[in-house]
Amino acid sequence: MSEKKVLYSGMQATNTLTLGNYLGALKNWVKLHEEYECIFGVMDLHSLTVRQEPATFRKNARSLYALYTAAGLDPKENCVYFQSHVSAHAQLSWILSCFTYMGELSRMTQYKDKAAKHEDNVNAGLFTYPVLMAADILLYQSDVVPVGVDQKQHLEIARDIAGRFNNIYGDVFTIPEAYFGTTGAKVMSLADPTKKMSKSDENANATVLLLDDRDTIIRKFKRAVTDSDTRVYYSEDKPGVSNLMEIYSAVTGSSFDEIENEFEGKGYGDFKLAVGEAVADELAPLQKRYDELMKDKTYIDECIKENDDKARYMANKTLFKVHHKVGLVDLIR
Ligand code: TYM
Repeated sequence: MSEKKVLYSGMQATNTLTLGNYLGALKNWVKLHEEYECIFGVMDLHSLTVRQEPATFRKNARSLYALYTAAGLDPKENCVYFQSHVSAHAQLSWILSCFTYMGELSRMTQYKDKAAKHEDNVNAGLFTYPVLMAADILLYQSDVVPVGVDQKQHLEIARDIAGRFNNIYGDVFTIPEAYFGTTGAKVMSLADPTKKMSKSDENANATVLLLDDRDTIIRKFKRAVTDSDTRVYYSEDKPGVSNLMEIYSAVTGSSFDEIENEFEGKGYGDFKLAVGEAVADELAPLQKRYDELMKDKTYIDECIKENDDKARYMANKTLFKVHHKVGLVDLIR
């Protein structure tokens, strides 16, 4: 490993990514990646908490791998790998679950939300989801974890578990810090700006997908729900237009003041069109690269293999240390 600090993150391998995933996470990974030793997981084990159709799921997971790459995370320089290919995740998760309290897990808002949404399938995996996520992060001795704000509580529990373990056994785990972008850390639905933009939204107009074509992106922004005012300015009681300002700011780098000046005297119509065009322009090179990559199975397979090996090596180092600390008999090697 180099002297650089370790950056770790990942996304669930379900459906295609949304603009929320991109602005809240992926774009920041790309921005930060040169400063850190980076590890990015395709979190396919986490996706199993909800029923998946096997063939589609497998396709989505490979597609996510290509999307990370297309966004600018070269798998020859960053360790981009599949969570399920590194068995240490499940093994450490078990050990950490013995250091996690039922009470802590039942306070997780994402668990409560998902349990309410999938009443017919409130499985134990949904409940212990944050423990697996803690294992992901702690296995690689991660210093920083760039995520959207919806993952804040999961990051906190990972820090608590690590601290608890370290208190008993000495400095085994690095305590990770969350990283949130200044804009785009919580992109809201275009149909209901009081709700998070989410992959699983049933209203197609609520969510911009990373692979939507230019016309679709612009159309969705034109239809975005706003209030009856016309002046473009940021305010908590104007969630629709404020969300669009967040998105425009995250894409163009303009501050809210600059955006207000740019659209002074213009109406919401002009602003929505400008946001749609800016997003479409930002995503166009990523989409082009993605199409090319998806045709190059050999290259992707080679990257998967190389990085799985790298990830396994790093993860096992921590896992064996943990085994030793808790008193499991060492492997004979
Ligand atoms: P997931 O797959 O739900 O989301 C991936 C990333 O996208 C961010 N995100 C958003 N950011 C801003 N606005 C939104 N509307 C929005 N929707 C999603 C999420 O915050 C996340 O950063 N549990 C994680 C995956 C995971 C993980 C990990 C992440 C598993 N193990 C270890 C970091 C480290 C998840 O479900 O993300």
